[in-house]
Amino acid sequence: MNKAVILAGGQGKRMKADMPKPLFKVLGEPMLEWVISACEGSGISDICVIKGFKGEMIDEYLGGRYTTALQAERLGTGHAVMQAIPFLKEDTDGNTLVLCGDAPFIDAETIRESLMLHKQNGNAVTVITAELDDPFGYGRIIRTKGGISGIVEQKDATDEQKAIREVNSGAYWFNTADLIDLLGKITNDNAQNEYYLTDTISLAIAEGKNAGAYKSENADIIKGANDRKDLLELNTYARMAVIDKHLANGVEFTCTDGVIIERDVEISAGSEILPNTILRRGTKIGSGCKIGPFSVVENCTVGDNVVMNTAQAYDSVIEDGVTIGPYVHIRPDSTIRSNAHIGDFVEIKNSSIGEKTAIAHLAYIGDSDLGKKVNIGAGAVTVNFDGVEKSRCTIGDYSFVGSNTSLIAPIKLGKGVYTAAGTTVTRNVPDYALAIDRGELKVNEGYTLRKMNKKK
Ligand code: UD1
Ligand code: CA
Repeated sequence: MNKAVILAGGQGKRMKADMPKPLFKVLGEPMLEWVISACEGSGISDICVIKGFKGEMIDEYLGGRYTTALQAERLGTGHAVMQAIPFLKEDTDGNTLVLCGDAPFIDAETIRESLMLHKQNGNAVTVITAELDDPFGYGRIIRTKGGISGIVEQKDATDEQKAIREVNSGAYWFNTADLIDLLGKITNDNAQNEYYLTDTISLAIAEGKNAGAYKSENADIIKGANDRKDLLELNTYARMAVIDKHLANGVEFTCTDGVIIERDVEISAGSEILPNTILRRGTKIGSGCKIGPFSVVENCTVGDNVVMNTAQAYDSVIEDGVTIGPYVHIRPDSTIRSNAHIGDFVEIKNSSIGEKTAIAHLAYIGDSDLGKKVNIGAGAVTVNFDGVEKSRCTIGDYSFVGSNTSLIAPIKLGKGVYTAAGTTVTRNVPDYALAIDRGELKVNEGYTLRKMNKKK
């Protein structure tokens, strides 16, 4: 069976952070996750991640999803792969893919195609390469008439070799049994006194085995991050690539400033995304929607023809024709049914809001179930928390909750209930009743004048 080893032992000193570099995020996901999903996308799920610097953070992130091996000292890429030998020995029949955890754009297609070449040529090792305008810092591929003869690192290269533009991506296919054999032969006899994984190429050839290179047409697959500026570049690149995909699918953008759309977000044709809008993982948006400006949507299912302006919504369902905003916060586990209207300065949490219900301004609805065509007046709040326990409010269809009503949960309002403005409702109200709680209004005539005269 084919498997993968992902190198994630490096610190990335130039990131200036106490975190392993592969955990830095591109479009909201750690670079390591991008690499893992390329493996999974090409059908490889038997993965060993090599951890080193702050390895416990890698374990914590992976949560037991994959095998990990610790590289206690950082003695080079070859030494890193040596830590995976027990994992490799579990099954030596197939091939092993080695990838860098800090080069997120390797893709499933490149992995599959390079494996085809690797198998066709019966290679012990096949390195994935790309041609760069500026190859500085990368290992250079030494080509011969028949194939390749080795890889030379920047620090070990002659001037002539430095002029070579074809570079090592840091990704390779190995025959697993050959890899185990070759790892035993690597030495640290080079400019950096490191065990170079790249030496496996010349070692394989010296043993009469085949070594080859798969050159990717897409040089972006080798992009990695050494410092924060690189990371920003990776984010910019990924951000625009995702937006390009949505443009091709018929999504409208007049201006993409501040628009960040994570990889797995789905948007149907005919929707428009306005500036400063962040669409996070798990979000699906239907057609004919206008999302933004200044909005954040995370893990929500949004129907067709939804308008969302200056709003944030998390872990919720928003059905067709709903209008939201400006200045609205939809907190997790809410369902906003079709054609409801959620207006300005409204917070909704763990609640279901019925069809065509209107909460037009300045309200808090928490832990509540509202029927259809309910009207919630300005300043109405569900009082769902008594300091110890959260309780639910239920409001029946067609009810009218007057401005500044406080509904003390747990409480149930029937169908067609009215509450008078300013009422504090402390017990259940039956269908079609009015709840009114109001002291007698006193009007003290001439009060202001008397008060002012006294002060004089
Ligand atoms: C390596 C390659 C170089 C290639 C480049 C692509 C070697 C000797 N050189 O160089 O040919 O062009 O990658 O980016 O392999 N790592 C460990 N433990 C270690 C050393 C590295 O886990 O002891 C990990 C790093 O975290 C990183 C990856 O291996 O994910 C590559 O290491 P890095 O130091 O960036 O290798 P380069 O010197 O850039
Ligand atoms: Ca590197």
